[in-house]
Amino acid sequence: MKTTILCIGAGYVGGPTMAMIAAKCPDIKVIVADINVQRIEAWMSDRLPIYEPGLDAIVKEARGRNLFFTTDVAQGILEAEIIFVSVNTPTKTFGIGAGKASDLQYWEKTARQIRMVAKSPKIVVEKSTLPVRTAEAMGRILNDNDSKIRFDVLSNPEFLAEGTAVSDLLNPDRILIGGAETPEGRKAVQKLVDVYAHWVPREKIITTNVWSSELSKLTANAFLAQRISSINAIGMLCEVTEANVNEVAKAIGMDTRIGPKFLKASVGFGGSCFQKDILNLVYLCEHFGLPHVAHYWEQVIAMNNAQRERFVNNMTMRMFNTLVEKRIALFGFAFKADTGDTRESPAIYVARHLVEERAKVVITDPTALDNAKKDLANLPAESIEFEEDPYRAAKGAHAIAIMTEWAQYKDLDYKRIYDSMEKPAFIFDGRNILDHEALFQLGFNVYGIGVAGKSHL
Ligand code: NAD
Ligand code: UGA
Repeated sequence: MKTTILCIGAGYVGGPTMAMIAAKCPDIKVIVADINVQRIEAWMSDRLPIYEPGLDAIVKEARGRNLFFTTDVAQGILEAEIIFVSVNTPTKTFGIGAGKASDLQYWEKTARQIRMVAKSPKIVVEKSTLPVRTAEAMGRILNDNDSKIRFDVLSNPEFLAEGTAVSDLLNPDRILIGGAETPEGRKAVQKLVDVYAHWVPREKIITTNVWSSELSKLTANAFLAQRISSINAIGMLCEVTEANVNEVAKAIGMDTRIGPKFLKASVGFGGSCFQKDILNLVYLCEHFGLPHVAHYWEQVIAMNNAQRERFVNNMTMRMFNTLVEKRIALFGFAFKADTGDTRESPAIYVARHLVEERAKVVITDPTALDNAKKDLANLPAESIEFEEDPYRAAKGAHAIAIMTEWAQYKDLDYKRIYDSMEKPAFIFDGRNILDHEALFQLGFNVYGIGVAGKSHL
């Protein structure tokens, strides 16, 4: 093999990204290392640690050929010329910047380990999402070594979305590589360009300086999340004016300058990154003395929080201002369809608040029940039930709330569901995926997001 690549961190990004590189570059050896033994064992098994459509086939194609999973991070460092670092960078929960800044402890540990173990020059690639100028700090840590081994630090943020990771990796909108504007920096950038050029058209691989690359990642997530908060804000106005947010989204989305994507009103965005990355951006702006910019982006989060809160308040209000002992079925717990990931899922917030109102919450989801159980482990066991079958979840319920836009929820037999529920029966469609008029005709009282409710009461 020509080159060996190591990826430290075998999570939602490291696993799929490296599987794609291995599948598309048979001449490159790809090692994926993680300290989490269970995760690595799962990557080596038939039951991968993450659910992602199309991923099994790609992993199977390359695993054992040029794709290897290991817990031996040090051995990987010794072998590799290019080291991707794809460890988690959650929001800091302690000390300076708590609640906003990025917790860089995992990333820094890997940098120190690379410096300690390496015996030959390495290109170290930031795959994790990091604050602007992290590469500079990393360069300092890495290059402060007695042996004078050379380390080049590149930024190569990942833009895949969960649930569509495989197609995003196969046909990315762009690959972004940031590097130092020096002869050595340019050489390192070229090496990484050559990897992606195995399958990505050259014009889609763009190179910038390191800081632009780091900031572009935070900016992309901030803009995407901002669109959701913007349409949700308009949705609130729709609810009180009899305008329909789906119609408004369609009308504005046909303007080619606005575009139709990411205008789906919902109970709010979730996922491990939008909130974390915006908070990180806010922290950076505050740090660099830009309070107006910080405040501007903070509103995207404030609107998202308000949206989730409004959803639960609306449920309570519509159901005669009491949820005590009412059975409420949450359809979906993942933060979006086609993933089992529940990190920052709005369903977590909704479930907790319903339990606070003393409702009995039943959760159903095709892939996320294991994670849901962990997320809600500290709630009283008698107030939460987990049920694989949506029909059983809805049986005897006073209300259903659609939390995730799983396609199968559109095709359920709602007549059968209606007949099995307590009356009056309510549906709160937090994703606007159901046919509200048809449900109303069946007898349901139906409330969506940013659309007028349909009530028999
Ligand atoms: P994750 O938590 O799923 O995976 C991170 C992995 O790193 C874990 O398995 C952890 O055990 C491992 N790890 C931590 N410290 C380690 C160490 N010292 N040595 C070896 N392994 C170590 O996280 P993720 O969702 O894959 O996200 C990783 C990064 O990518 C984050 O910065 C995130 O913001 C960014 N990102 C995520 C997504 C996404 O869709 N999840 C998309 C784009 C970017
Ligand atoms: C997002 C970005 O889309 C990726 O480009 C980025 O790489 C990734 O974050 C990251 O950095 O982690 P992801 O969070 O996996 O990807 O999924 P999205 O499709 O962006 O959805 C995020 C949330 O927004 C979900 O809860 C989804 O249901 C919600 N959403 C999305 C809406 O409510 N309305 C929309 O129109 C679109």
